[in-house]
Amino acid sequence: MQQGNKVDSHTVLYGVIGDPIRHSKSPLMMNRAFKETGINGIYTAFHIVPDQLANFIAGVRAMGIRGVNVTIPHKLDVMHHLDHIDDSALAIGAVNTIVNDGGRLTGYNTDGIGYVRSLKEEIEPDLAGKRVVILGAGGAARGIIYGLIQEKVDQIAVANRTAERASKLAGDFSNQADVYAGDWDKIAQLCAGADLVINTTSVGMFPHIEGTPIDASWLREETIASDLIYNPLETRFLREARERGCRAHGGLGMFIYQGAYAFEYWTGTDAPAAAMRSCVLEALRGN
Ligand code: ATR
Repeated sequence: MQQGNKVDSHTVLYGVIGDPIRHSKSPLMMNRAFKETGINGIYTAFHIVPDQLANFIAGVRAMGIRGVNVTIPHKLDVMHHLDHIDDSALAIGAVNTIVNDGGRLTGYNTDGIGYVRSLKEEIEPDLAGKRVVILGAGGAARGIIYGLIQEKVDQIAVANRTAERASKLAGDFSNQADVYAGDWDKIAQLCAGADLVINTTSVGMFPHIEGTPIDASWLREETIASDLIYNPLETRFLREARERGCRAHGGLGMFIYQGAYAFEYWTGTDAPAAAMRSCVLEALRGN
């Protein structure tokens, strides 16, 4: 059996920072990945409040913490403390992964590519030419748009309750691909013309599981319904879309693969995605 997770004087440190952070499943998932691959690393959760962010980053350099995942509320502010920002994080405007190369810190964003890898492996390998509707215009939507543009989708309509946010987001990417702001009031027509409809809003998330962002009857049977929410594992939106005959894609895979990419950037080793997934599933079902 592998030697992973036996802490000794060679153990390399990793972690996730956020405020709050105690709900995070990342430590379980990442320590399982170290164990599976036999890498001598340990990953823990640090509760870092905003005014301690600079001190934390100094600590990363001082202690040689090799890798850090970054979550709310630090994804934007942390960029000011790093030495280099990768193109992915620049385009999205947020960092969720830091790699420490001997004190030189680089920020990446693995959310969008994590989402795309999950969608391709679980539902549809070829996204080229697809017409996409994105519901919501927050930080999560930015990462998804970045990831989908790399896949050469045909067009992306962003529809948001607050129209100005949709226009701003679409405008930030419209020089790279056919990305435009769709009208929230005409969402039924937008959905009817889409091959892929993605919910990036919080509507339907635990504990408000009766919420749904759209009426599933607006979807064609060929359409893929995708939701970034993974608690519950199947939202009302996905359940109704599945009952209509659509292919449904839940948010757990995005969480797994954003972590898988981070693991691969840090270690250069393929992430054991199946083991990571079963570990998180087990934890979610135990809740
Ligand atoms: P994140 O960074 O996780 O995407 P966010 O920036 O708070 O989070 O964005 C949440 C998204 O969910 C927004 O697009 C928000 O719409 P507004 O911009 O109009 O606030 C959307 N959202 C949240 N609650 C909603 C609701 N009840 N109906 C429709 N959209 C909702």
